[in-house]
Amino acid sequence: MPDTYPIAVIGGDGTGPEVIAEGVKVMDALADRFNLKFDWHYFDFGGDRYLKTGEILPDSAIEELRQFKAIYLGAVGHPEVKPGILEKGLLLQLRFKLEQYINLRPIKLYPGVETPLKNKGPEEIDFVVVRENNEGLYLGAGGFFKKGTPQEVAIQESINTRFGVERCLRYAFDYTRKRDREKKLTLCGKTNVLTFAFDLWERAFHEIGEKDYPEIERDYAHVDAICMWMVKNPEYFDVIVTDNMFGDIITDLGAMIQGGMGIAAGGNINPEGTSMFEPIGGSAPKYTGQGKINPLAAISAGQMMVSFLGEEAAAERLEDAIIKTCGKLKSLSAGKMGYTTSEVGDMVAEYL
Ligand code: IPM
Ligand code: MN
Repeated sequence: MPDTYPIAVIGGDGTGPEVIAEGVKVMDALADRFNLKFDWHYFDFGGDRYLKTGEILPDSAIEELRQFKAIYLGAVGHPEVKPGILEKGLLLQLRFKLEQYINLRPIKLYPGVETPLKNKGPEEIDFVVVRENNEGLYLGAGGFFKKGTPQEVAIQESINTRFGVERCLRYAFDYTRKRDREKKLTLCGKTNVLTFAFDLWERAFHEIGEKDYPEIERDYAHVDAICMWMVKNPEYFDVIVTDNMFGDIITDLGAMIQGGMGIAAGGNINPEGTSMFEPIGGSAPKYTGQGKINPLAAISAGQMMVSFLGEEAAAERLEDAIIKTCGKLKSLSAGKMGYTTSEVGDMVAEYL
């Protein structure tokens, strides 16, 4: 009997379902070769269902999804739904309610992929960002005062709890230890201006590091400097840990230096619960149904999921097939690959 993994699948909006279909195809092929089985359970949450029924994510769905170790997510964002509704109602709800408190984003340039950075290659671009995923500015704390008047005030607060910061930092230290490269963890903050939030982060960082991770080098840099170095000398980084908002921003910069949204993937991790894996590029609705979108980001998200499930050998084989496929595509951008979406999926499956 093969090891069976039940997985919840949310294709979502726009091109989400097409790229996820390629990921499912590739992971089924992988399962055949490793005597595994993925048992896919499909859910139709997203913009279309919301427009039809007014429902985004019923509480019962959260309870149902909680039964899975992993969710495979396409993309959220529909051109006919006002921005913020699906992002907050679906994506952030899932992250918060399932306590996926880590957003993990590897920034790795594969051989054969072009980076916009001159004189940098796969040797130089290989680091991981651990982004806090449940707190900070994303919690939605704040409000309006005198909305719509000339005296209007809008307040948006960043919430940082010692508990939330500490579990994120511990995950990052553990990850740095397990990654076993330079054993260097860089805290990305803004201690010169955000003197409350990052004071807490910095104190917790050094306390935890000194006591429980003495062999890990602790490094600090302001977020703006990190943006410069990610472009100028990305080889400086091993693992970066940061809050939710800075993590959102620097991982899009990271996605660009690793070859773009065609390849960038991420994991929303709850180490003890239900984790969720997604391409980070969004729903790209203008390409829906045209076979132009690059499925490699979704397939890479699948690769992170396979590794998270503990199937390391299968995950390595899959990464290898992704690397070989990268070398064959004319470009990683939608419509410029030289192949259709499903041809790229087939190619990865063949390289397995
Ligand atoms: C991401 C996305 C989301 C975020 C949006 C869609 C809410 O940009 O996963 O990085 O800001 O976290
Ligand atoms: Mn983002």
